[in-house]
Amino acid sequence: MNREDFPMLKDDIIYFDNGATTLKPNQVKEAIIEYYDHYTANAHRGDYAISAKVDNIYEGTRHKIKEFINANEDSEIVFTSGSTQSMNYIIFGFFAHKLQKDDEVLITVSEHASNILPWFVLANQIGIKVKYIELDENYNVTIENVKKAITPKTKVISLAHITNVIGDIRPIKEISTLAHQHNIYMVVDAAQSIAHKKIDVTDWNIDFLVASAHKMYGPTGIGFLYGKFNLLEETIPQNYGGGMNAMFTKDGYYELREVPTRFEAGTPNIEGVIGFNAALDYLNNLGLSKIEKYEHELKTYLVNELKKLDFIEVYNPNTIGTTVAFNLKDVFAQDTAIYLDKYHICVRAGSHCAKILSDALKINNTCRISLSFYNNKEEIDLLINVLKNSKNIWKEIL
Ligand code: ALA
Repeated sequence: MNREDFPMLKDDIIYFDNGATTLKPNQVKEAIIEYYDHYTANAHRGDYAISAKVDNIYEGTRHKIKEFINANEDSEIVFTSGSTQSMNYIIFGFFAHKLQKDDEVLITVSEHASNILPWFVLANQIGIKVKYIELDENYNVTIENVKKAITPKTKVISLAHITNVIGDIRPIKEISTLAHQHNIYMVVDAAQSIAHKKIDVTDWNIDFLVASAHKMYGPTGIGFLYGKFNLLEETIPQNYGGGMNAMFTKDGYYELREVPTRFEAGTPNIEGVIGFNAALDYLNNLGLSKIEKYEHELKTYLVNELKKLDFIEVYNPNTIGTTVAFNLKDVFAQDTAIYLDKYHICVRAGSHCAKILSDALKINNTCRISLSFYNNKEEIDLLINVLKNSKNIWKEIL
């Protein structure tokens, strides 16, 4: 779908690494160039027309994100540099002050590093315990296993909506309902899901959620965190400076501005926000339900074609998300990726920032294909042909 909007696809490239970052449509780049060519100004600081235009687009983007995830108020959206910064902000700005020694945080081994390491740091700093919800045989999180993992000390459940290697989709609404029955906070990493599946933070009763624009066809270096307004009011800013203070005096007294402005110190990433705005328009115009249906068909086709090759092992044939983790039997994942690159096929290989998932998968490194709506069956057929032809080459080398 919409391949004409992505010039890189005309460069003879098969881009299967959308979980790492998506390509950017012309509309996003044009919006950024328009800003630089015709209304470059800072945000929230100028008393002239082009600065007001920047303010309108900046705050308009916040509103579009609010609508996109169905938050209650624009002020529940805080701009950050992306999911990782958002997760760190939530953990160190809110939970570091809320949790106490021996409080338990539930995650899984398939989380991304950004939903593991900040919790480990908090474990070192204040003595919280990081516990793991067991995965089922298909690496899914089941509600039964969440129930089993909850104890009276559980204070937070922090999960990816869709994981970045396995691509399993978590039943977030059910988990969140269970969490709130036990007075547990629900944190969701939506980095891998937000461009593929509808999210509803209000219906799902989510406390905090994070995402990055660059996995949504927008620019790198911009993303957001969502927090329920009352929780953001209890969150301690992690950066201090211009834009976020209401006043200060020379004897050290200061007052902060309201939520969310108090979390956005300094000149923000204006071009990023403007590009993000165009990316949201792009996704809205295409429609998430159409994207989800198409990508699901494509993923099913890919898995079925891969399964026909007896020298390939697919690790997640039964998950619904758009990623496929696989290896050529007895071939190192990075070697496969380098081989595919000879045919301009881009896949990611390695542990994909999910370094403790290897315990469950029983393999350290995998190749990962992560699909987008601009991929198609012809590209998959080409991949399958290249893989078929590789079989004899590996036989000779190994
Ligand atoms: N987190 C990104 C990925 O999974 C970079 O590839």
